[in-house]
Amino acid sequence: MEQLSSNVIEEYFDKIGLKEENDRDEFFKKIDEKHKVNLTQNLDLAVSLRKDNGSGKIYNIKNKDLETSMDFAGYYHDLYRQFFTWIMKGENLDGKKILDLGCDNGITTCFVAGLYPNAQIVAVDKCKKGIKCAEEIAQKLELKNVRFESVDAKKVDKFFKEEKFDVVLSNRSMLEITNLPKLKSFWSIDEVEDSIMVANSVVKFFKSVEKVMADDAKLITFERLEGVEEILNFVKSMRESGLYIDTDSMCKIQFKELNDVEQMPLIVFDKTERREIGFYEFIEIYSKLPILNKQTDVEDEFKIELDFKALGKKELVYGTQIDYKTGVGSERREVWQVGDKFVSYKYSNVGRRELITEGIEKDKAITEIRAMSNFIGRIGHKVTEYHSLEEREKLVK
Ligand SMILES: C[S@@+](CC[C@H](N)C(=O)[O-])C[C@H]1O[C@@H](n2cnc3c(N)ncnc32)[C@H](O)[C@@H]1O
Repeated sequence: MEQLSSNVIEEYFDKIGLKEENDRDEFFKKIDEKHKVNLTQNLDLAVSLRKDNGSGKIYNIKNKDLETSMDFAGYYHDLYRQFFTWIMKGENLDGKKILDLGCDNGITTCFVAGLYPNAQIVAVDKCKKGIKCAEEIAQKLELKNVRFESVDAKKVDKFFKEEKFDVVLSNRSMLEITNLPKLKSFWSIDEVEDSIMVANSVVKFFKSVEKVMADDAKLITFERLEGVEEILNFVKSMRESGLYIDTDSMCKIQFKELNDVEQMPLIVFDKTERREIGFYEFIEIYSKLPILNKQTDVEDEFKIELDFKALGKKELVYGTQIDYKTGVGSERREVWQVGDKFVSYKYSNVGRRELITEGIEKDKAITEIRAMSNFIGRIGHKVTEYHSLEEREKLVK
């Protein structure tokens, strides 16, 4: 079965001319030389490739013609491979009416259309050049069950007034179509729930998607959501729009992206009303989710905080708070006494955490923190020491 799905996917990539890219330098060299793309700063290009911030600029450049579009798509070769593996393992979509939101050059659309010849697929995007590439792929593969529309996804309900879909797909589109509000900074999980904000514009877009879904329809999202807090932000806005997370279908998918291993959550929503899941419960669920194509351990920051809390009765011995002048946030490095042992806990107000429970000697740990903090202080950042929770409370956050 595994082999069969792998063959189907690789054959599809061959047919559409999507090649595997494993090396950043080679990839950008090829793009620069072959396509004369006037973005000499590879970093800019990489950032735009990952997130276009709604400008559409990169899509017009890369979808100039099908060959250019496929060369750029090599960046995501393994992302597609792993997403398609998940699709092939899931339920049979044959005979279903499917909407692909933000289809770009149609790589996902045409794969699903070929896999399920009796499904009917409509794919929308606002980038006309992307749609032209998508239509070319569909023609090449002689697909008869797919149509493409140039539509602003924020208004899908206005466009599909009468049509309802059984499945809506979003492969990295929903986050690009709408901007989730930025979370306020937080020192601990207890503060996260307050920092989650639901924006009217986001709810309006998600609602327009909900409206074109049949009563028993599913919304399948594979988005570049970073960290549990961002996922919950997304989930909360969905809930406000009448779409509820199906945690049983959720998983994390790892894939190679040039030289790196990345991970994204795959989340399925539907209209079945479910109770709201609290933050702590969600972290527990999220940390235990199956990981498709697991290659590396991705540390779950909040799990670390839960492990710290689970240490039980403890007393703060020493700490420093560093407020970075660059505005990237603040960080605390602390030593705690737990029974007759000591632990070191480092955490920030932007989500990073590190806990060391073994081999910590009190005086040595304090000396190390002090030395590092002094160094950071000397290069211009604000460093404050504290020896108790009361002292820490008085610090400006
Ligand atoms: C990362 S790409 C999607 C890739 C595609 N789903 C796939 O599987 O290959 C994001 C797409 O969202 C589209 N997009 C952004 N804002 C949009 C909007 N308001 N309406 C429709 N499409 C939009 C962009 O044009 C782009 O093609």
